[in-house]
Parts: sequence; structure tokens; C-alpha cells
Amino acid sequence: MRESDRNLRELSDLITPMSIRVAVTLRIPQKISGGGLTAEALAAETNTDPGVLERILLHLVSAGVLTRDDGGLFGLTRVGDQMLVENDGSVNPDFLDLGTVSGRAELSFFRLPEVARNGDIVAYSAQYGTSFWDDLGKEPSSAVHFDQVMAAGMKKRVQEIAESYDWGALGSVVDVGGGNGTLLVGLLQAHAGLRGTVVDRDAGPAVRAFRDAGLSGRAGAFSGSFLEPLPPGAGGYVVSRIQSDWNDADVRTILGHCADAAGAQGRVIVVDEFAAEEGVRTDSETDLRMLMYYGGKERTMEQVRELAADVGLSVRSLRRAADWTIMELSSNAGAVRGGSSVEEALY
Ligand SMILES: C[S@@+](CC[C@H](N)C(=O)[O-])C[C@H]1O[C@@H](n2cnc3c(N)ncnc32)[C@H](O)[C@@H]1O
Repeated sequence: MRESDRNLRELSDLITPMSIRVAVTLRIPQKISGGGLTAEALAAETNTDPGVLERILLHLVSAGVLTRDDGGLFGLTRVGDQMLVENDGSVNPDFLDLGTVSGRAELSFFRLPEVARNGDIVAYSAQYGTSFWDDLGKEPSSAVHFDQVMAAGMKKRVQEIAESYDWGALGSVVDVGGGNGTLLVGLLQAHAGLRGTVVDRDAGPAVRAFRDAGLSGRAGAFSGSFLEPLPPGAGGYVVSRIQSDWNDADVRTILGHCADAAGAQGRVIVVDEFAAEEGVRTDSETDLRMLMYYGGKERTMEQVRELAADVGLSVRSLRRAADWTIMELSSNAGAVRGGSSVEEALY
């Protein structure tokens, strides 16, 4: 375990995180990026109390996020600049904006004590009376943004995913929870004979992506839920970055629906960045987000293999694609390494 360089006061501070969130939500960074403004001018532009806003901004000066010159004009430091743009490896400003679903989801961390006592509580749903996904569906701009964030991660790997597995041999695939179709577009572009369908809560973004890519003849999408039975008969059912959003029972339901639809001949293909071995949380922040937003968790390959085994699926092959893994599953009858631990399976 690494000891933190920061002291406990810095680690436990809620004042700075909330002040940053207020600044981002009010679009203060955008307003001062081209030249400083006074607290009074910013309050007038943001319809806030000038005295209170100034106190928040002064705290952000103390925290090294903003600057204030002798004329009382506030500007951005290098750290503050990150509130403007998404910096890889830093912070996605969308998480800080309390006007977005992601920003609100972060606030559900105030429910952590309750969740610690009762692990069945989904903090987001308890806080807002609706699930993260239902809320996202009500906010088109947040839904588009969410899809874009997902697609950005996918675009970096889609070529390797397309090349690392013989997708063409499947004939047709259903991308279960396939979002705006980024993965399916990549797979169809790389495998000329392949056909595909996205099933997601809202099919619209994927339909548009297929049209824009000139793939409408081979790709379609429909709005539906993977918590309900899936259309049978495709050669493969892809489950990309879905499992960590759900609790164990729901993952069994989703994989079970894939297994039923795939039948004896079809494949279920989990594409994901799995957690490192159990007990070592390489991305503990994401793990806790999954807990609070959805009641989900980051899972190791072995944990996913066990859930798949519960619904009669066994690992046939494992392949690496960039830093993600493609786990090919099939019903037990056809599996090559039925019952073996994934550590033994070969890439
Ligand atoms: C983390 S994203 C992954 C998107 C995509 N598979 C990828 O890897 O980029 C989870 C996806 O699950 C979808 N989703 C959530 N609940 C769903 C449900 N009940 N039925 C179908 N899709 C759902 C979301 O809309 C979203 O597109």
C-alpha cells in the first residue's frame, strides 16, 4: 500500500471539492478564461450572491485553482485550467458539473455511510428516486455526452478488438447495450460479411451512426432492455463494458439472456477491462462509482467467469485487445475449457 503524500485534512476536505463543483456548474472557468472578471461581474452573469460567490472564489484562490490580481480580477491557474477541458488522466469536468447526471451521481457519495451499512442500497436511486439510467434517458444532452465519453474509450481500442477475434466467423452479432454503435461500426468495417444489431435503451444514436458510416444495409438497432429476453439466432452476443454496472444477480440475468438467445451454437463475448486480482483494486475510484451509481462493481475475470458459469456458460478463449480482454463464452456443451479457472485459459 502506498502512503499518501497528502495529509488527512487535505484528503478529507469537502470544501474545496464542492467549491470547484460550484465554479464548474456556474461556468466560471469559461467566463474568466479569456481575461479576468471581478466577483461582482461574475455574480451578475451567474445570477448568484456577489458576497457568497466572492468567498467561494477566494477559497479557490487559496486552494491554488484560481488567481486574483490587485484589481480583484479572478483568473485560472494551470490546475484551474483543467476545469475547462477534458484532460486525459486528470478529471472529466462533466463529473464536476452538478447540472449533469454524472455530476449529480458524484453527489450520491454523501450516501456512502448508508451504503456501508446496507450494501443493497443503490446510492443514486436512493438520492434521486430514480435510477441513473432512467435519469440519463430524461436528459438528451447528458445522454449524448455519456455516449461520447464511452465512444472515446472505445475508439482507441476498436481496431484491436476487431482484429483480435474472428468476428466474421460469427456471421451476425447483437451488441447488447451497444450504446451509440461505435464498437459495431468498427467490427462491421473490419469484417465485410458480418451483420449486426445494437440493443440499447435508445436505439436512435446507433441508427444514426450506422447511417453516417454507410452501414445501414448490414446494421440495425432497436430500443430494448437486456434485462428482458433478447432476440435469438445471432452468432454472437457482445457484452461490452456492461457487467460492472450491475449487481451479481443482474449480471446473471443479462448473461443468461445472452446464453438463451445464443443457444448451443452461438457465442457470448464479454469485452471489458477486468479488475486485477481480487482484493487489489487497481481502480478503486471506478469501483466505488460503480457501487454508488448502479450497485455494481469492478470484477476480475474470474468473478465474471463464475457468474457466467452460473448460467451455463464456459470460457472458450481469452484474447487481449489493447488493455482490454475479449472473453469468448459458450454454453457448456461446446466449451473447450469448461469449469477451468480463467488463469489457466490461454490467450
Ligand atoms: C457503460 S455503457 C457501455 C456502452 C458500450 N457497450 C461500450 O462498451 O462502449 C453501458 C450501456 O448500457 C446501456 N444500458 C443500460 N441499461 C440498459 C438496459 N436495461 N438495457 C439495454 N441497455 C442498457 C446504456 O444505455 C449504455 O449504452
